[in-house]
Amino acid sequence: MRPVRSSVLCRLLPTPFSPALRSLVLVLLCLTPRCQAVQAENVTVLEGGTAQISCRLQNYDGSIVVIQNPRRQTLFFNGTRALKDDRFQMVLFTPRLVRITLTNVSVSDEGGYFCQLYTDATHHQVATLSVSVPPETPTVEVKQEAVEGGEVELSCMSPRSKPAATLRWMRNGRAIPGVVSQQDNAKTFSVSSTIRIPVERKDNGAALSCEASHPALSGQKRIRHYRLDVYFAPTVRIVPPPGIMREGDSLSLTCSVTGNPLPRNIQWSKINDTLPERAEISGPTFQISRLSQLHNGTYLCQAQNNFGRAADHYTLLVYEPGAVVETHSAVPYAVIGGVLALLVFTVICVLIVTIWCSVRQKGSYRTREPILAWY
Ligand SMILES: *[C@@H]1O[C@H](CO)[C@@H](O)[C@H](O)[C@H]1NC(C)=O
Ligand SMILES: *[C@@H]1O[C@H](CO)[C@@H](O)[C@H](O)[C@H]1NC(C)=O
Ligand SMILES: *[C@@H]1O[C@H](CO)[C@@H](O)[C@H](O)[C@H]1NC(C)=O
Ligand SMILES: *[C@@H]1O[C@H](CO)[C@@H](O)[C@H](O)[C@H]1NC(C)=O
Ligand SMILES: *[C@@H]1O[C@H](CO)[C@@H](O)[C@H](O)[C@H]1NC(C)=O
Repeated sequence: MRPVRSSVLCRLLPTPFSPALRSLVLVLLCLTPRCQAVQAENVTVLEGGTAQISCRLQNYDGSIVVIQNPRRQTLFFNGTRALKDDRFQMVLFTPRLVRITLTNVSVSDEGGYFCQLYTDATHHQVATLSVSVPPETPTVEVKQEAVEGGEVELSCMSPRSKPAATLRWMRNGRAIPGVVSQQDNAKTFSVSSTIRIPVERKDNGAALSCEASHPALSGQKRIRHYRLDVYFAPTVRIVPPPGIMREGDSLSLTCSVTGNPLPRNIQWSKINDTLPERAEISGPTFQISRLSQLHNGTYLCQAQNNFGRAADHYTLLVYEPGAVVETHSAVPYAVIGGVLALLVFTVICVLIVTIWCSVRQKGSYRTREPILAWY
């Protein structure tokens, strides 16, 4: 049997590659004299996707076509499955084109696929299959709790990608530079980016995000949003009732508490005394109905969390119903006094001007009278 020279062009092409363009590329490649030496086009497929491996035949004479995987195991022996792996399918076998597909591609499928004629061991084509693993949305880990006045240490992690994903921390549209570390885990990479930022109370609830970008995401980003939780000691403020308290009035105090974590318990107490029996306490509100002078005293609101404690006090003075009270709030009196003074001053000025004018008028009459008298 006379061996007929044939040539094989083995190609791996991405699925969405237009058939017309593919044919054109193949034709152009095979117009060159060293057609056999032309390296097949490499293909990159997403993990889990489907790769197409196409072998272009020229002057096919019916010889056996062998397709091998990167470990040089024969996948198909002239169209017949040789390796038991259902993910490989022979989809086309014509005298011009042999095409197989590989579904659910994994990183272990990477490497060069060989396409050759059994009669012609010297001529084969290799196409390199690369598998791309886009990152999942990264995760954020708090390495050090954020306490007011301290620093928070946050790590953004992308456990698996190929090639390595790029991580970037963002706050208010600005990038925060992080310390990046990268680990190679058998073909895929785990990447982390760690930032340390000083935190104040006002940073509580601030929005940060960690963005993972990757060539396979075509410009899009996988973003993890993170809200800063800044711990701080409580602040406490009693909102006092307006005006003065008289016997029979009811008193209502509200204790406004902040803190992170927000203190669960608010304690009301009376300094050097027990709380009155009629006091009604419900969390931040404290009420006494029908006040009497026995309720005079200093009342205290206290709150605490793991980061500190705080208190505020209110001094209650209960007056008799008819008592005339000089309140200590000097501001309204000063204002009223000022307005009165201004009013008095204005009236005096007007008076002075009026009197002066009338005196002048009378004076001019008097000076005219003698002149008239001369006629
Ligand atoms: C295909 O990939 C191999 C190995 O990565 C490389 O040596 C070769 O140049 C690539 N060929 C093309 C056409 O990109
Ligand atoms: C190989 O397969 C092709 C296509 O089915 C066929 O035409 C050819 O005769 C086969 N060659 C051998 C040697 O069996
Ligand atoms: C794809 O392959 C992975 C392992 O590489 C396997 O866990 C998964 O079940 C496969 N998926 C399908 C749809 O076959
Ligand atoms: C509480 O009692 C102590 C000692 O009797 C006294 O020194 C202090 O001034 C009192 N405090 C108030 C707010 O009355
Ligand atoms: C309560 O306070 C008012 C106002 O200072 C005072 O007139 C009154 O005597 C006080 N009563 C008692 C029992 O301390």
